[in-house]
Order: sequence, then structure tokens, then C-alpha cells
Amino acid sequence: MQINVQAGDITQSDAPCIVVNLFEGVTTPGGGTGAVDRALAGMISELIAQGDIRGKWGEMTLLHTFGKMPAPRVLVAGLGKSGEFTIDRVRELSAAVARFLRGKRVARFATIAHGAGIAGLDAEACAQAIAEGAMLGLYRFDRHKRTDDDATGVESVTIVEQDRARVGALAAAASRGQIVAEAANVARDLQNEPANLMTPTDLAGRAEELAQQHGLGVHVYGREWAQEQGMGSFLGVAKGSAQPPKFIVLTYAGGGDATPIGFIGKGITFDTGGISIKPAAGMEEMKADMSGGAAVIASMVALARLKAPVNVTALVPATENMPGGNATKPGDLLRAMNGKTIEVVNTDAEGRLILADALCYAAKLGLSPLVDVATLTGAISVALGDVAFGVFANSDALADRIKQASAATGEKCWQLPMFNEYKDLNKSNVADVKNSGGRNAGSIAAAFFLKEFVDDRPWAHLDIAGVDMFDKERGVIPKGGSGIPVRTLVQLALDLAARPL
Ligand code: BES
Ligand code: MN
Ligand code: ZN
Repeated sequence: MQINVQAGDITQSDAPCIVVNLFEGVTTPGGGTGAVDRALAGMISELIAQGDIRGKWGEMTLLHTFGKMPAPRVLVAGLGKSGEFTIDRVRELSAAVARFLRGKRVARFATIAHGAGIAGLDAEACAQAIAEGAMLGLYRFDRHKRTDDDATGVESVTIVEQDRARVGALAAAASRGQIVAEAANVARDLQNEPANLMTPTDLAGRAEELAQQHGLGVHVYGREWAQEQGMGSFLGVAKGSAQPPKFIVLTYAGGGDATPIGFIGKGITFDTGGISIKPAAGMEEMKADMSGGAAVIASMVALARLKAPVNVTALVPATENMPGGNATKPGDLLRAMNGKTIEVVNTDAEGRLILADALCYAAKLGLSPLVDVATLTGAISVALGDVAFGVFANSDALADRIKQASAATGEKCWQLPMFNEYKDLNKSNVADVKNSGGRNAGSIAAAFFLKEFVDDRPWAHLDIAGVDMFDKERGVIPKGGSGIPVRTLVQLALDLAARPL
């Protein structure tokens, strides 16, 4: 899809549809909506007076212009209460408008810059949010479905700006929005792919392809390399699977001699639970247990396309977690790369096992700060539902920067405490640490487990298990893989480049 910014007057656009907006309670529309209203001889204000258009959040009114204007259709989108209007709503509105018009088989539309007029939001931020919203909201995973004759797509969105002098800046902002949203869609493609088509080898292959396309450095290591590195914890998970494990390393170097940031993503391409096998109901969702890996890979694509002035290395330990004759058993002992021994009390707590070695390797590479992203615990959904991902950190400064980035992108997060008392949950009788501390404080115990494999460098852990997959669409998120937290990772890297920790 194309996103353009054009100078001009929206009333003169000959797009198949033009999009204007209205706050709740406004009786005489102003700005672009007012201009369109005048061109339509007051049709919009009359519909407001009659109570047909109220400006409610989510309200969509499609009008036909019958020759009164070059554009044959006008969509009036409700903005809701002006006091509740934020940049997140611009993104969501853009998604809703794009989906609505796709449903009406409208392939191209022109829109005013929602939010930049009377709402008083920053115009560039709005252009970016409109581009993001449309790209994110229109995403569908339909590559394995016979195409429906009815299924048309939106080909182009044009943001019309009156002030010619601002077009360049708005176009650049829209292009940034398109890049980060397309990266989120790359992650979604990886997440949604069934596990038989997204094995560790497939995931590594996709990473290599993306690296090639976008000029990233890439290394894919196999089992022997992991053995040489002493990654007994990662390999302990891989043992049960017929699919060979892969350890994926992507590098992006746009930041001169700055210390590279480390992004580490959980790459379990299917999580059966292993010998501690999961119940059948809902197990198909475990194809997305590589969502953290998908997010870090996709964020690298965006950083490269943005030519971000930063260095980032992404690490994705990738394996299936399967039961089998050779699988790790409850009670088995593993030794991680830093020499710590791990008692595996539950083979379904496998994410922390593969991340343990990846975190050790990140330290070996000298990456800092470290941010790992993982569908780590069901307990995080119990705490935060599908609204926010969990943040855990050994550094308040880093946690604050993550919260700022998350607030800017609208991908909500919430920090959970790492009080030292929780550390005891992972005490083992036979090893340095055990991989599950039971039900209570499950997400925090998992974070403390990871902390065993991080030295003193600033580190944060994002538990995305509640927000990786959606069973119904919400805002900019379609059904299926959400692409969270790709946009937050990109924002964080950009923020850290501008102002290091
Ligand atoms: N991949 C799961 C966590 C998960 C659950 C992600 C639901 C997405 C949706 C993880 O590997 C897991 O199984 N965690 C266990 C840990 C427990 C055994 C300590 C869990 O949360 O039940
Ligand atoms: Mn598991
Ligand atoms: Zn898992």
C-alpha cells in the first residue's frame, strides 16, 4: 500500500472517497470538515442537526456527493469527546477508517490529517500515526487461503495538507510510520505462520532473507556451535525435537563505535510443554511462542530502513519444545553458558532456559543495555490481560525509557516489582537454580530466573505472553499475531541513540 502526502484543498480531491472528521458535540464543523460541509451546501451540518451524525468515537457516516464535489464519497469519522482525544486515537481512527473503506471496496482515499487541526496534536506525529494506523489496521494473514473474490485491498491513502511548506516534513513522518508499521506486519507474518511452516530452520531462513533485503548482518549457528559455546540450557530444550535448533544473530550498525544494544527474543517455534505436556485445548496458539524472536527480528528491519543512528544486535535462540524419547525430563540438570546449573522441574518453563544462554552470549558480545522479549508466562495474562505487556528490569533508568517508548507507540506496558524476596522462589535443592517457582508470582519468578544469567549491565525483560495473539481485532491490532512490541523496540532504540542511558 502507498501512503502519500499532498498539498492542496481536500474539497478538490478526486479520490474515490475523502475522509473528514467530527468531535462529539460540534454543531458547526470547522477546518477541512467545514470546507467539505460548505462544498456540500451544508449537508454535514444538517445531518448533525438532525442527529444522524453525532461525532461519537467510532461512528462512520458515508455520504455520496452526486457531483457536488470531485470526490464521489465523503466519510465523516467520529472523533469522540475532544478531552479524550490522543495520538493513540489518531492511530486507531486511521485503522478503523481504512478497514471501513476496505469493506466498502474503496481502493483509494484522501484524508485530512486527523488530530492536527482543532485537536492541536503535533502534525508530524499525526501523519505518522495515520500511516501506522492504516498499515497496521489493514493487515490480514491470508497467504494460505484461497482468495475471496470480494476481498479487495486499499491501494493508497493520501493525506492532504493545506500548507505546502509542511508537506515535506509530513511525508517524512508518514514514511517513518509506514516503515515501523510494516515491520510490525513482518513480525505478524512470522507469528501467524503455522509451526510446521515456521520451524527453527524456517525462522532462520526468513531472518537471512530479511537481512539480505535490508542490509543487516546475519549469522545462523547450529547445534555444534551452541555446544562449543556451552549452551547446555538452550540445547536441553532442543533435545526433544527432531528439528535442529538455530541460534540467530542479526546485526545493524548505524551508530559508529557506540556499544551495541542487545535485543534478545524467545524463539520457541512450537511449545508443546515438552514432557510436562500442555493440555490440548488452545495448544495451537503455541505456534506463536516465537513472538519475541519475531519482534526483535522485525525491529531490526525497521531500524535498517530508518537508517537509525544506533548499533543493535538481535539474538534469537530458536527451537521447538517437544516431548520425545530424547527429551529433557522433569528433574534433569542442565548447565548454562555461565556455568550455573539448572534443575528443570517443569519442561514447560522452557523459554527461560533458552533465554538464559542467549543472555550469557549477549554479555560475551559486550552488548548493553539488554532487552529480552518473550512469551514467557501465562501468569502475565492473569496479571495484565491482553492490555499491557509486563516489564521487569534491574535498572530503573532502562525501565523508564521502555515506559516512555511504550507510551509513545501506544503499545501499553506495566512494570512489575523485582523485590529480592521473590528470588527465593527459584531455589533448588540440587542445582544453583530451578526453572520454575510454582504458581505464585510466576512472572516475577521467571524474571528472577533470567536475572541469574545477566551480570550487572542494564537489562530489561518484556513478558508479552498476554498480548502476542488476539482472538478478535482491537484498535490497530487485527486477529492473530499482534506485532507487539516491535514499534516500542524501534522507538526505544531511536531514543537510546538520541540520549544514551
Ligand atoms: N509459552 C508459555 C507461556 C505462554 C502461555 C505464552 C500462554 C502464551 C500464552 C511458556 O513457555 C510456559 O509454558 N510457561 C509456563 C511456566 C510454568 C510452567 C512455570 C506457564 O506460564 O504456565
Ligand atoms: Mn512452555
Ligand atoms: Zn513457551
